Amino acid sequence: MRTITLPKVLALDPIARFRCFVDPPRFVDSLIAHPDLRFAARDSQCPTSSDNVLRGLRITKKSATNFFKHDSSWSARPDPLEVSGSMSASKACHVVAVVNQKGGVGKTTTAVNLAASLAAAEKRTLLIDIDPQGNATSGLGIRKGAFGKTIYDVMIGQATLAEASVATEVRNLTLVPATQDLVAAEIELVDATDRAVRLRDAISAYLSKNKNDYILFDCPPSLGLLTLNALVAASEVIVPLQCEYYALEGLTHLMATIDRVRAGLNPTIDVRGVVLTMFDPRNNLAHQVASEVRGHFHVFDSIIPRNIRLSEAPSHGKPALLYDVQSKGAQGYLSLARELITQDAS
Ligand SMILES: Nc1ncnc2c1ncn2[C@@H]1O[C@H](COP(=O)(O)OP(=O)(O)O)[C@@H](O)[C@H]1O
Ligand SMILES: [Mg+2]
Repeated sequence: MRTITLPKVLALDPIARFRCFVDPPRFVDSLIAHPDLRFAARDSQCPTSSDNVLRGLRITKKSATNFFKHDSSWSARPDPLEVSGSMSASKACHVVAVVNQKGGVGKTTTAVNLAASLAAAEKRTLLIDIDPQGNATSGLGIRKGAFGKTIYDVMIGQATLAEASVATEVRNLTLVPATQDLVAAEIELVDATDRAVRLRDAISAYLSKNKNDYILFDCPPSLGLLTLNALVAASEVIVPLQCEYYALEGLTHLMATIDRVRAGLNPTIDVRGVVLTMFDPRNNLAHQVASEVRGHFHVFDSIIPRNIRLSEAPSHGKPALLYDVQSKGAQGYLSLARELITQDAS
């Protein structure tokens, strides 16, 4: 008799729910074939709210270990549950700036969907919108009226990050919103001697009272004071890159800026990697640029394809995993989150 305690999980479509996080597919197939899982799926009382969909993604380490004890063919395979997020060895919060001074390369799409994917893997995640365009804010369905303070108030010292943070539709994901007011911060701070470290200090104060696994910054398309604050506050940088002709040129400039920040205000900043976005495998140039980038930088294995669902989701105020979890775009970002979590746990 197998001892397996599967959580009371699944809403209407168990296969879709598990496909979100569970890799490789054989693992999914084993679970789907398992009689207890079918039972759990059939008898689930969970309503289909997005929160429960996310709750449904959680399989405990213990339940899977029990399961695989009885599945000898699995034993040689790596532990798939590193991706569930509960096993992180490191307790420190990863503060990740999503940066590229070019506009339209997928920064906001990456920040929103990576943050949502990390949160769905039970990582307590805070997304800070530090772009006056406020696209991460609206992309998560947070409208004016749903919040009081913003990152502007934090930057000018009139609010703490905790006071400015708002809950989102994704469990474990909170957001510090931005509005156009943020443009004024660059001007107002021009004479402040601590203008480059405002965000770093706000993060330190926040982390002294709050436990987070990941904090992400969605940066504006420039290397001005706001991006500088993000680079000074960050422990690491992720660079979304669209594989097009001028992509590398911009990257050299960005890396020079990061080197300057490392030489001055943030000696430990780490360039975590480049994530290829809007990738179209039919485009030869995309492959050429990708291989060129790989020659110079660490490139994440997870590649984000060009996918219409990723561009539609923000107009519904949802990250892609709540809009269409099975889309290639949502899966791309879930895979990127897995890659980060697995690296961080090792
Ligand atoms: N992988 C993708 N597939 C299709 N459209 C995408 C993808 N990534 C981003 N987009 C779209 O491209 C545009 C620019 O992306 P965005 O994330 O806003 O870039 P940035 O923040 O760097 O300016 C947006 O309209 C977005 O919806
Ligand atoms: Mg943006």
